[in-house]
Amino acid sequence: MDTIKMTERYIAHTYKRQPLTIVKGRGMFVWDSAGRRYLDFVAGVAVCSLGHCHPEVVKAITKQANKLIHISNLYHIQPQAELAALLARIVPRSIGKFFFCNSGAEAVEAAFKLAVKHTKKRRIIAMQGSFHGRTIATVGATWKPSYREPFKALIPKIFDFVPYDDLNAVERAIRDETAAVIVEPVQGEGGVNIPSKDYLPGLRKICDENDLLLICDEVQTGLGRTGKWFACEHWKVLPDEITMAKALGGGFPIGCMGARLEVMESFAPGDHASTFGGNPLACSAAIASVKTMQKLKLPERAAKLGGYFLKRLNELDEKHDCIEEARGLGLLLGLELKEKSIAEAVVVKARERGFLINCTADKVLRFVPPLIVEQEHIDSLISELDCIIAEVEK
Ligand SMILES: Cc1ncc(COP(=O)(O)O)c(C=O)c1O
Repeated sequence: MDTIKMTERYIAHTYKRQPLTIVKGRGMFVWDSAGRRYLDFVAGVAVCSLGHCHPEVVKAITKQANKLIHISNLYHIQPQAELAALLARIVPRSIGKFFFCNSGAEAVEAAFKLAVKHTKKRRIIAMQGSFHGRTIATVGATWKPSYREPFKALIPKIFDFVPYDDLNAVERAIRDETAAVIVEPVQGEGGVNIPSKDYLPGLRKICDENDLLLICDEVQTGLGRTGKWFACEHWKVLPDEITMAKALGGGFPIGCMGARLEVMESFAPGDHASTFGGNPLACSAAIASVKTMQKLKLPERAAKLGGYFLKRLNELDEKHDCIEEARGLGLLLGLELKEKSIAEAVVVKARERGFLINCTADKVLRFVPPLIVEQEHIDSLISELDCIIAEVEK
């Protein structure tokens, strides 16, 4: 049986998959099982920021796998401590300690638990258009009703949703029981939504005035993606808690929640745990990833190449009527089309011509390439998109 048939037969149908089996990756490129090559502007959904199979990450995983793959948090773990010390040098200066886990959703779960334990309050303000994960609490904080509704019975009734980029709405939603506000500095899954310049600083001020914790969910925006190590830095905002995952392990699963020292002190032994969290192999992959990102100055690169990419997307916008808007920060970019059917057709045609792109929020083409992307890769995608959009808008 081939992979697609086996997937259909044996794997839960929770993903809408493209009819493509990727078997190999190097840098900006991946190859399918028939040997066809694709230029990858999805990067495992903003995960492979160093490109596929970066040699430094492969070397670190191989070396650590030969030494110690797993040991539990009943003991001290050398790569875990080293990774935390390394992260402490790149996170916003408010963040002093870390908890390691295995995914973005787990990092957000940890942030919620810590916020509730620290403040002794229970409600959380979340934004319309948000995405925070698929576990029970994180899907509860995720806006899209179709993700939440079927599981309503399980979801705690503690989330107050307000429109994104609306400070007055946040102030109105505060209750005695409000513990924290969670925000993506740029909404990724929600359609690459960039808030106005006063929004993040305004949220910080509201949180300070009302004794609320500000949680920045940087699972997608973190680690250089938007042109700074963390997107909240664009607005010089210091969060009380921060979450990261995706790009941290260079493709290896790892999540992390960081918090202010005095906030993290509210976690005592037994309050939270994860068998695999901060595992030596995952942490070694993350150390190699972060160090390589530092060496290659990837946040600066993302700012530069992202600016160029956005300029080229704006050229497409001027040319084609079916485009609503181009937007982006660093290498997190979106091209909103007027119709869902056109966006879907563009994704399929791009794939057929050797380009992987993704569509989010129904009709927003999202581009989250590896941060090692070159100008020539962007140019070749833009000229292909130009032809494809001209064909599908006819
Ligand atoms: C902002 C944000 N938070 C949380 C998550 C959940 O991460 P994971 O899929 O690793 O659980 C995502 C995933 O896309 C995300 O974009």
